[in-house]
Formats: sequence, C-alpha cells, structure tokens
Amino acid sequence: MRRHSFVSLIALLVAVSATCLSCNGSGRQRSLLPDDDPNWYRSAVFYELFPRSFRDSDGDGIGDLAGIREKLSYLDDLGISAVWLNPIYPTPFFDSGYDVAGYREINPEYGTMEDFDNLLESAHRAGIRVILDLVFNHTSDEHPWFVESRSSLDNPKRDWYQWADPPFDYECFNPMNFQFGLERWTLDPVTGQHYFHHFRPQMPDLNFYNPEMREALLDVVRFWLYKGVDGFRLDVGHMYFEGTEGCEHLPETHDFHRELRTLVDLFPSRAMVGEISGPPPDVLSYLGNGTNELHMVFNFPLVTMIYPSIWTGDRWCLEIGLDRSHFSKPPGGQMANILGNHDFFRPDGLLFGDSGRIKLAATLLMTLPGTPFVYYGEEVGMANGTATVVDYRDAARTPMQWDGSPGGGFTEGTPWIPLSPNWETHNVAVEEGDPASILSHYRKLIQLRKQSEALQSDHASFIDPGSRSVLALVRGEGESAIVVLTNLKKSMVEGIFDLSEVPWPEGEICNLLGEDGSSVILNDETRGHYPYSLKPHGTMVLAPCP
Ligand code: GLC
Repeated sequence: MRRHSFVSLIALLVAVSATCLSCNGSGRQRSLLPDDDPNWYRSAVFYELFPRSFRDSDGDGIGDLAGIREKLSYLDDLGISAVWLNPIYPTPFFDSGYDVAGYREINPEYGTMEDFDNLLESAHRAGIRVILDLVFNHTSDEHPWFVESRSSLDNPKRDWYQWADPPFDYECFNPMNFQFGLERWTLDPVTGQHYFHHFRPQMPDLNFYNPEMREALLDVVRFWLYKGVDGFRLDVGHMYFEGTEGCEHLPETHDFHRELRTLVDLFPSRAMVGEISGPPPDVLSYLGNGTNELHMVFNFPLVTMIYPSIWTGDRWCLEIGLDRSHFSKPPGGQMANILGNHDFFRPDGLLFGDSGRIKLAATLLMTLPGTPFVYYGEEVGMANGTATVVDYRDAARTPMQWDGSPGGGFTEGTPWIPLSPNWETHNVAVEEGDPASILSHYRKLIQLRKQSEALQSDHASFIDPGSRSVLALVRGEGESAIVVLTNLKKSMVEGIFDLSEVPWPEGEICNLLGEDGSSVILNDETRGHYPYSLKPHGTMVLAPCP
C-alpha cells in the first residue's frame, strides 16, 4: 500500500514537471511563437494601442480587452508581430491610465484578469506578442502603497515615497512637463509633510532609494513575466532616481535598468523598450553596452527630424537624425522608430492631411533601420480629435476608426470621447478595398519589411543620389543588400547614382515595391552612374531581379 502511494507520488511529480516543461520553464502557456528567439524584437513590427479607444465589446463606450481580442485577426492581416498595450491597470484616470492604482490588477472598465489571460493566449495563438506598459516612476495617489505611506510618519511604507518639509533640497521642475502643473511638492494634510511628484499631484513619485520598494517593483515584473507577457515598455525610464544629485539620468537609474535586464533575461524571448527623453547621447545610454540595459529605446532623436525633412523635402534633417541615433548606438542595441504615439499629435495633423506625405512617413518608418512601432489608427490616417477629457493629448487618443457608422465601428454605444473629424472617410472599411489608400500602403510596406532580411537588418549606409531631396540608403549586406530610394519632395525627381559600393552582380534590377521598375541593366558601364526617376514622394526598393 505504502509502495503504491510512493509510485503515485512519483507519477504526480513527473506529470507536474512535464506540465512545467510545456510552459517553457517560465510559466508561459504554449503558443505558436518560438521561445528560443531572443532577437524577435529586431525583426518585429509593433503596434501601440490605447485600450480605452481600440474596440468596445460591450457597448459602454469604453474600449476593453475583449474588444482587442476581437480585432487580433485585423492586426494579424496587417502584419503586426507585437502589440504594446498602454496601461491596462486600475486608475483614477488623472493621467489617462499613467496614474496606476494597482500594478497587478486589471482596470475593471477594461475587463478582468481572465480577459487578459484570454487575450494573451489568443494573441500568442495568432503569433502576436504582447508587451505591457510599466509605469514605475510614480503611482497614483490611490495606489495602496501611497495610501499606506501617507497614513502616518512611521508607517513601514513611509519611505517608499519622497516626503520632506520645506525648504526642499531639489525641485526638478521641467518646463516640458508644464501640463502637469508648476509645483513639484504637494502638502499632504494627513501628516503635514510634502511629497514629491514629477507629474500631477495625484501621481506621487516612488522613492527608488528604498531597496524594499525596488524589490516590490521587481516582483511586479516577475508577476507579468510568469504570466507570459513578452516584455515591457518602460514609462519615463530616465526619471526613476532623483535627489540632490540631479533629476534625470542618474547613475543609480542605470543600475536599476541593469538589474531589470538581468531579471528579464532569465525568461526566454522577452524584450523591453524604454521611453527615454533627453539629448540623444543620454537616450542611447540606456542601451548600456548593447546587451545589459534596455533592448530598445524609442528613437525620439530621429522622429523629431523625420517631419522637418518631409516639410522641407530635404534629407539633411533625416541624416542628422540617423547619425544621432542608429549610427551612434552601441552594437547590439536597437532603436525603436515611431511617427507618433499617445503623447503627440497625429501624423495627419503634422503633415496637413496630405496623403502623399503621410504615406511617405510610413515608407520611412518601414524602411529605415530600427524596429517600427505603428500607433493605432496611423495606418488609416486618423486625424487629431478635437475634444478634451483629460488634456490636449486626447487629440491622439480618439476611438479607432473601423467604419463610417456613428460609433465608427468602435462602439455600439456613445464613445467616451468623440471620434476624430475624419472617421467617415478614413476608416478600415473604406480603405481596405482601395489599393491607393493609406491602409493599403501600410500593408504593402509591412509585408515588404517582413519578407526582407535586408530591411530587418541593422545594416544601413548612405549613397549619394545626386539630389538633396532623395534619401538613398543601402540596407543589408553583400549580394542580398537592397537600395531604398525615397523622394522627399512633392515633385518628380530624376537623377543618377553610383552603385559601385553595392556588390550586386550584373543584370536586371527590380523594384520590390512592384511599382515602376528600372529598365536599365546593371553592368560595368551603368554601375557608376545608374539612372533613376521617382514620382512625387515616391519610393523604389531596388534589388537584383530574382
Ligand atoms: C510618459 C507617458 C505619458 C505620461 C507620463 C507620465 O511620458 O507617455 O503619457 O503622461 O509618462 O506617466
């Protein structure tokens, strides 16, 4: 009898270990995604999505997790390999969810933890990875940690936030953050002390000098990693530590990023991208030595140069942007390219609703070196909204435009914020069937990027196209290199460029974009002065014909 229970125990242990193995040793559910692909984020096309505005599945006017799940096949068709969800946690919504009131819970307006698990599982089944926003610089003042911390001077969590009496040793006012108010210290009547906040008074900053608090944050990271999320976007990752030594980019903040990376690397195939503001060298410094801090940082140094290049039709700004980002990063580090996000005005507004320019911006996003992040709705040319619920940034947070119905296909109820003014003309239903639409352009470019190892590669070098309005980049190396020629101007341009540096064999050259190709055969004579002609805002992606 005893022997029998011993055998059962062994059988049980074997079954449990087998189950664990099928979870990849990290608790992750089985999926179609390979688990041994640590570099997946380099070839991925990401999609940033504001959950409140993507798809409302229950008609209350607020987007939710079940709604996102309904739209996975749309994302899959578009060619998206990973989504970044803006905060999905409980929040009093003073900062649109970036005031988090519980790091391990789901905002009940968006659903339940079960809804999240279902979304994650379905996304993985569809081959789409999911990364979450980690907002670690601050919490909401309704977060239980702050509720405890403020309750008394001797509460065990008192030191998890920054409490002081005037005069304060540091102020840390940054004029860029004017929308959060002018004061950085707020008096709390409960104990008569002030607490520090980089952002709104409802968003107290955590005290990163407290090791117990840091450990609690690492536990949050473990919680989501064990759940199987594929990584994180780190909110204001340069602001964690502040004090008399400075307000941003402190060495201790880098130490914490290294600790985070060590933890995340224990789990296979996960990646982090940081929102880091500041001068380009500071932004790049969060890539560490290329392998020991963040996997990617958002390419703010480049995006601020993309628009001026498009406005002026001159590649100069773009070259500077690339020099300060991609060409200056440590080997192994990766730039995350964007045209916009939930904090900026939409490309449609910045490019005056000009669809040629909007498509050109998309072409650059998909052909420049770095991992592209599409912000939801960019792919149909959504306009800025005109209503404000929280602050001016709501312009870029209006409901996704699925069709021309009154709720835009986003909701059957009343949307929490009105749709943007162009929803009837710029939506998925209208654009899907139109080969000349912005959506079709995105689809084509994303497919091209996903099929081209050269475009996914880190390699890029300039060639001189003889005209300042053309950006000519060699992407990839050797015979499989491709040449991307982009006309930044709204008029036709013709020129001659030198292909001597590109080791292509003699023969016919094709345009992989399938538009007008080139009828000139590459040979010893043409190699040094190969003619091209580009339509207004047009692009050719050249490679030897197969
Ligand atoms: C980041 C977010 C922004 C938020 C701020 C404070 O910049 O992108 O939306 O307001 O952090 O959390």
